[in-house]
Amino acid sequence: MTNFSTKRCLLPEKLRRPLASFIFAHYVNPMRTTFSFSSSGRLIFGNHSLDQLPQTLQFLGVKRPFLVTDPILVKVGLAEKLLAKVPGIPMFSDIGPEPSLAMITNAYNAALPHKPDAVIGLGGGSNMDAAKLVSILLTHGGHPKDYVGEEKVPGPVIPNIAIPTTAGTGSEVSLAAVFTDTDAGIKVSTLSEYLRPKIAIVDPLLTLSCPPKVSADSGMDALVHAIEAFTAIDYQKFPVPDGAVSVYQGKNPLADSMAEQAIKLVAKHLVQAVNHGDDLLAREGMALAATLAGLAFSNAAVALVHAMEYPVGAAVHCSHGEGNALLLPHVMRFNKPARLEEFATIATWLGEDVSGLSLEEAAERAIIVVDRLREAVKIPARLRDIKVIPEQIPQFAKKAITITRLMRVNPIYPTESDIEKIYQAAY
Ligand SMILES: NC(=O)c1ccc[n+]([C@@H]2O[C@H](COP(=O)([O-])OP(=O)(O)OC[C@H]3O[C@@H](n4cnc5c(N)ncnc54)[C@H](O)[C@@H]3O)[C@@H](O)[C@H]2O)c1
Ligand SMILES: [Zn+2]
Repeated sequence: MTNFSTKRCLLPEKLRRPLASFIFAHYVNPMRTTFSFSSSGRLIFGNHSLDQLPQTLQFLGVKRPFLVTDPILVKVGLAEKLLAKVPGIPMFSDIGPEPSLAMITNAYNAALPHKPDAVIGLGGGSNMDAAKLVSILLTHGGHPKDYVGEEKVPGPVIPNIAIPTTAGTGSEVSLAAVFTDTDAGIKVSTLSEYLRPKIAIVDPLLTLSCPPKVSADSGMDALVHAIEAFTAIDYQKFPVPDGAVSVYQGKNPLADSMAEQAIKLVAKHLVQAVNHGDDLLAREGMALAATLAGLAFSNAAVALVHAMEYPVGAAVHCSHGEGNALLLPHVMRFNKPARLEEFATIATWLGEDVSGLSLEEAAERAIIVVDRLREAVKIPARLRDIKVIPEQIPQFAKKAITITRLMRVNPIYPTESDIEKIYQAAY
């Protein structure tokens, strides 16, 4: 089977992308006439759903749960709220945003003496992901780096219960756990079907204390998940090279329907949730949007926006959502030729009236609206605003192009120089 990477191609640069795009557009992979769809074992959604944690643990037969969270959630009383439901469980509360390798191993070392039979992740994506990684280490031993990549987890892990306190990452239903590899200067992921939480408890009340910046960044991350899933390469045209594994399936009808709802909910509720954090209706809308987007992307794909954010986030320590939101319009502009209809549809879901416009103009509207949304929630417009310096761009492009699993699900397979140009446009 064909791998369309153009890295060592002898064709002149200017011919490579059109050729790759042409092949992508006309290629139907005979091996991928099916797609599958997975989620957490059970999803409990709604205000006060945290009350169901004790029954949940009982249902799973869990006797010694271990809690992974962070100091801010202790400070705002959310850890205490959880401990009031299941008193006396041991915890590690030193995870930080975009967690480092050291934080994961510290959490694991703190858990070990308690011999946990389940791990609860309470928090944003950072804590939920850290809890997933602790589940792996408690079950299979080793080091977090041993599991970086796709389907590197050798078997089931002890049950993971995910309780999001941000509305963004969708980690509560996803198969991914992300951490910062500080030595390599990039954020890396372990992706495995074994990592989907056994139970996800999505209680919008837990997001009420999210400050505006966290609400904005994580909410835009959810939008990026939905847009990347909806505009990914079609599952039937997805050229997984021989012998390779892909956790992502490409765009498919189930993921599409969830991406659609997620995009509409973000359009309706994000700005209100950011500016009026006590508006429960907006918080509920965003919590649902994030979970739906998580379901969409963790089956279809996230793609070039995420690949380009990982080196930036590791270098300048912006939040994942902030980096993604800033890069999104630029990546959309690059992808637009391959996804005109999808972008035009997204524009309408985001509330734009595209009647009378050409397809090209309607597609462009989607880019304009997502950028307007970014601005409305006060996320910076330019890489220079988040302290990137021009000299970093070639290095970022070199790192992003190596994330093959995200490149090959992008609707256009970029070259390293394409990626550099996108960074420059965002600079
Ligand atoms: N596993 C996945 O599928 C997946 C998907 C996308 C992103 N991620 C990862 O998730 C991480 C980002 O997660 P995030 O955007 O949820 O942010 P986060 O978990 O890093 O949290 C950001 C900050 O907000 C605080 N916070 C969280 N909830 C709060 C609340 N209710 N009240 C007050 N403060 C609160 C946290 O303490 C933290 O300081 C990144 O590492 C990213 O790469 C994972
Ligand atoms: Zn993301």
